[in-house]
Amino acid sequence: MSSSQKSCTIWLTGLPSSGKSTLAVLLEKEIAKRNRAVEVLDGDVVRTNLSKGLGFSKEDRNTNIKRIGFVCHLLSRNSTFAISAAISPYREVRQDVREMIGDFVEIYVDCPVEECIRRDVKGLYKKAIAGEIQEFTGISDPYEEPRNPELVVKTGDEEPAESLQKILAKLEELGYLAQNGVTEAVPQVEPVNAG
Ligand code: ADX
Repeated sequence: MSSSQKSCTIWLTGLPSSGKSTLAVLLEKEIAKRNRAVEVLDGDVVRTNLSKGLGFSKEDRNTNIKRIGFVCHLLSRNSTFAISAAISPYREVRQDVREMIGDFVEIYVDCPVEECIRRDVKGLYKKAIAGEIQEFTGISDPYEEPRNPELVVKTGDEEPAESLQKILAKLEELGYLAQNGVTEAVPQVEPVNAG
């Protein structure tokens, strides 16, 4: 596999419990299966190291997103797929990282807030609704939907495997992954006419 193959940053954005982390892990496995280098930058994980100490004000969230974007940029310009799974609620800073990175595939992980509340993977919606957590995205803090994402996956209706297939198809369509899981294009050799 050539190390110069073009990769990109796959930017998953959406509400808490919308399915970003689930899709990031599934996608990571699929990309690795195709013998391509890949890293996931998950909001929760980043906040325990690279962004330790940052809170959830608009300013702190944007600082977090710029840091994630910077690391994604370093990775994806070196033939590694970078998958970001952070809420990234503000449109303007998403646009900033898009411009910095260039090869940027924004995927809106679209799940109705009612369904996110029902899932409440970490029990934080419950606390936010009870007023125990302030500035909680979707409850007491804004989420700005992407206007022109490369793809929308409807995780309230679709199974994760279905959303995953849509993402892989988009990456193939955009030329970042070879079609049908084939990692290297087979050269089309014209038959030599010996006659
Ligand atoms: S972002 O807004 O800066 O992109 P990020 O994805 O890194 O957010 O972190 C979100 C995670 O932090 C959530 O999955 C949740 O576990 C936790 N969290 C704690 N407080 C909040 C809050 N007020 N709003 C959103 N997420 C919160």
